[in-house]
Amino acid sequence: MTPYVADPVYLNGQFLPLTEAQVSPLDRGFLYGDGVYEMIPVYSRRAFRLDEHLKRLEATLAGIKLGNPLDLVGWKAVVEKLIAAAPWDDQSIYLQVTRGADNKRDHAFPPATVAPTTFAFSSPLQAPTAEMRAQGVAAITVPDQRWARCDLKVTSLLANILARQQAVDAGCAEALLLRDGYLKEGTASNIFVVKNGVLLAPPKTQLMLPGITYDVVLELAQCHGQPLEIREINETELRSADEVWMTSSTKEILAITTLDGQPVANGKPGPVGEKMWQWYQDFKNTVMRKG
Ligand code: PDD
Repeated sequence: MTPYVADPVYLNGQFLPLTEAQVSPLDRGFLYGDGVYEMIPVYSRRAFRLDEHLKRLEATLAGIKLGNPLDLVGWKAVVEKLIAAAPWDDQSIYLQVTRGADNKRDHAFPPATVAPTTFAFSSPLQAPTAEMRAQGVAAITVPDQRWARCDLKVTSLLANILARQQAVDAGCAEALLLRDGYLKEGTASNIFVVKNGVLLAPPKTQLMLPGITYDVVLELAQCHGQPLEIREINETELRSADEVWMTSSTKEILAITTLDGQPVANGKPGPVGEKMWQWYQDFKNTVMRKG
């Protein structure tokens, strides 16, 4: 069977086989989902935008008042060791920190003597298939039932999970989250819209995850002179869009060509998304695969 997690994994300062990695059932990640995570794509054994991912991890840890168990050098050493040991050239590195395991269950923070639990592993990068790229994917819209700090990349993801399962049950790849009539993002992706040649991006607020891929897309748009507006997108604009795309570290830039059973424009991936995908590949190849 193809392994989806490489050995060794990293747990609390040690590199060890997955089967030997043990966490207490009193861990607050298990009891409360009290933790944070990151997902970093790796191309040709080079971590993409590693500093930015580690900066977002730091911001999320600060947001939930949990100390960072490792400094930048420490995290980079963990990531590099996992990449080197894994059998795949293209990988995704998962990092997670929880508030650790106390000797009892109590909502309030445990004493400072309780160490956080730090876990990291590598998996093969699951990029979209050629067919998904060529046809685009289907999505549904659902009400955004998450909390009010969606800018933090926390492991408590139940509202995202329920919305994503609703999408899967409807034969779709993603659920787009609408709050008060405005598009925020997907359950595990940021969403962009194109109308009349202009790329529209929802602004970074506490109701959206500041995606690393989102930032790359904005940089590429600016660098290539692609007209861009960063502003709230309402439901009517979403439904009358010429193009809708999702972006994430694993999906890169992927067209959404069906929304709630209706075609987006002509139901095919559009030209601005195609250009952006190419700019993204070129950027990735120059930054990551040189040498
Ligand atoms: N998810 N919005 C949400 C809610 C996300 O979970 C993600 C990423 C993104 C895109 O962020 P980035 O471009 O930094 O990957 C936006 C990752 C892939 C995950 O949960 O596995």
